[in-house]
Amino acid sequence: MIAPSILSADFAKLGSEADAVKGADWLHVDVMDGHFVPNLTLGLPVVQSLLKATDIPIDCHLMIEDPARWAPGYAEAGAHNVTFHAEATDDPIAVAKDIHAAGAKAGLSIKPGTDLDPYLEILKSFDTLLVMSVEPGFGGQSFIAGVLDKVRRVRSLVDSGELRILVEIDGGINADTIEQAAEAGVDCFVAGSAVYGAADPAEAVKSLRAQALSGRALQ
Ligand code: DX5
Ligand code: ZN
Repeated sequence: MIAPSILSADFAKLGSEADAVKGADWLHVDVMDGHFVPNLTLGLPVVQSLLKATDIPIDCHLMIEDPARWAPGYAEAGAHNVTFHAEATDDPIAVAKDIHAAGAKAGLSIKPGTDLDPYLEILKSFDTLLVMSVEPGFGGQSFIAGVLDKVRRVRSLVDSGELRILVEIDGGINADTIEQAAEAGVDCFVAGSAVYGAADPAEAVKSLRAQALSGRALQ
């Protein structure tokens, strides 16, 4: 699955920027609050408008403090998947429950420096694990290959049937990095600058997907 990140799109024309990636599996929307991360992007009203403007399922990535307070609203609005950060809450399971009750899939995200082990037990409460492969906050950063050990660990638990979860990766995914991420076992690839920085974003989605499939075949 390829999830273009609209962080790299033109915010003055988000409707047509969503149209520009027809064929994408999810549309990744980065919500940043200027507290959990230093950057500030957009919030619920923009997501509500985007939901009306596109049929592509919306994948909300909440880089915010107090997800217990805010995350369910994105699910109620109609987002397909709502992901929040493990580092931002003491009770991730309760937040996942509220997201599910509001009708969306729930995702847990971990920063590059966050250990996966303390969270393995609770992953059964989630549909998605979003492994950050850059420090959250900005698009266009370089891929941190060291996080692929976390991907491999979760992939092996999924393959052995111990866990059912979709493994998503976010940050620095492009033509040079997507194959190694696919080979490690990623299911869903977020790509911002590699898609919206391309002359033809829809074509970039197709070619990233083809590369991901060939990387996965090496597994
Ligand atoms: C970064 C965001 C990413 C970002 C990725 O904090 O979570 O989704 O848009 O951008 P690229 O693909 O350019 O690294
Ligand atoms: Zn993101």
